[in-house]
Amino acid sequence: MNKTKNEVKATDTDKSRIPGPCIMVIFGATGDLTKRKLIPALYDLYAQKMLPEKFKILGVTRGELSDKDFRQRMKDAHDEFSNGKENADQWDTFSEQLHCGPIDYDSRDSFENLKKTLQKIEDDYTIPGNHLFYLAIPPSAYLSVVQQLGAVGLNKPVNGDWTRIIIEKPIGYDLESAKELNYKVGEVFAEDQVYRIDHFLGKETVQNLLAFRFANGIFEPIWNRHYIDHVQITAGETVGVEGRGGYYERSGALRDMIQNHLLQVFAHTAMEAPVRFDADAFRDEKVKVFESVKPISREEVDTVVVRAQYTRGKMNGKEVPGYKEEEGVDKNSLTETYAALKLHINNWRWAGVPFYLRTGKRLPKRVSEVILVFKRIPHQIFQSDTGMGDGEIDANLLALRLQPDEGISLRFGAKVPGQGMKIKPVTMKFDYESTFNTKLADAYERLILDAMLGDAALFARYDGVEESWRILMPVLEAWQNAPVKELPIYEAGSWGPVEAEELMRRDGCWWRECL
Ligand code: BG6
Repeated sequence: MNKTKNEVKATDTDKSRIPGPCIMVIFGATGDLTKRKLIPALYDLYAQKMLPEKFKILGVTRGELSDKDFRQRMKDAHDEFSNGKENADQWDTFSEQLHCGPIDYDSRDSFENLKKTLQKIEDDYTIPGNHLFYLAIPPSAYLSVVQQLGAVGLNKPVNGDWTRIIIEKPIGYDLESAKELNYKVGEVFAEDQVYRIDHFLGKETVQNLLAFRFANGIFEPIWNRHYIDHVQITAGETVGVEGRGGYYERSGALRDMIQNHLLQVFAHTAMEAPVRFDADAFRDEKVKVFESVKPISREEVDTVVVRAQYTRGKMNGKEVPGYKEEEGVDKNSLTETYAALKLHINNWRWAGVPFYLRTGKRLPKRVSEVILVFKRIPHQIFQSDTGMGDGEIDANLLALRLQPDEGISLRFGAKVPGQGMKIKPVTMKFDYESTFNTKLADAYERLILDAMLGDAALFARYDGVEESWRILMPVLEAWQNAPVKELPIYEAGSWGPVEAEELMRRDGCWWRECL
């Protein structure tokens, strides 16, 4: 939360979060991420008057594109991908902030030109030299861009201005490559200039998980091994690979979702309270969680990790192709589109409490949720009416719904009206939309603004990224060293493979239905 002289000090009102004047440079200006996420988010910020008055977006791309054509493309993208949160009536004035320039990642001259263009924009519009670089490009190009920025001196802030760089996931392909990337980026930019974005951290509900835990007194005393039986974290997706077969083939569910998004949510769920909500204090606590994860031994990989691939099936009554039939996917692919794993945390709070994480494409529902399953009562004096037939009164559950239908629900047993003393599970709910009567901001809105404000709390730090890779390395190595001929399968439109059910059943539990 370092503030520089151009930034307004944050207080508790939204308008006080308007950053100081700056230029945002987007590498990959015509790419998918820019169109789907960055421009809609920037427009929404603009429409809410959350962007600085003096602000320019310079999109750079490998092709030649005039400002006019760039603006038109971004308008089309906005019309297609905006979430409709803000209407488009301010598009014309917004689009005047958009500029476009050519770039060749391998040419120093091209970066010298970029520097001149930035200088010209600063002079023409009297904007100080505050620069936010956004790498919305394939990871293979990250290093060239970083090094070229360094070579022409665009990494160094001058005259008290600031320079920051946002890097998208994936940060590396494994621990070694993540370390190498961090190291090489670190040769050019100081750590406090680097913002590694994980868009899950920008989701309102992921932040609310922190508020729920650390702004309330009643949950923390029971948030531990004495009361919690186990924790389930699910990120289910209905989509397949959506034309990203080429990327996904090299990635798979473990790298694409678990290494980053799910492990971040896991850390938010398990971390200790930081001394204050400050980027370093907060990230220190998350790193401690990662460091406390019990290493998975190579021998136990098959019993604590499940991977699978979807086959042809039905989604909402419509037939959809199997993964191997998707564009850009090898017909004999062994890439997992589903992964589930069990983790243990070796510390006083969590010893003995399993955390089960799962994610998959082509599941029946798009839903991300954290469920804390509490221990059952020690002795039962009433009859249960769960319909489960086992006569046991079901455990209390606390479900934090991250998306969609964002909210929190608590399940407990209540007496069924009537003569007897039968107990049935009922649910107490808080739901965001009806409580606050507002559409939630897209994660990118929050994170782009945070980066402009110099607040890195919701961005991954280098050691957090490396530690999360470290947790998964035994799994990746075991998979690589003992190749299989086929992966377990699940039908598109189902909740995943039987092996994932078995993973839970062996421990006497089951995946809770994400309603
Ligand atoms: C991305 C993954 O990081 O997150 C995608 O690369 C995935 O494969 C997406 O679909 C999920 O994000 P969200 O916000 O739609 O849940």
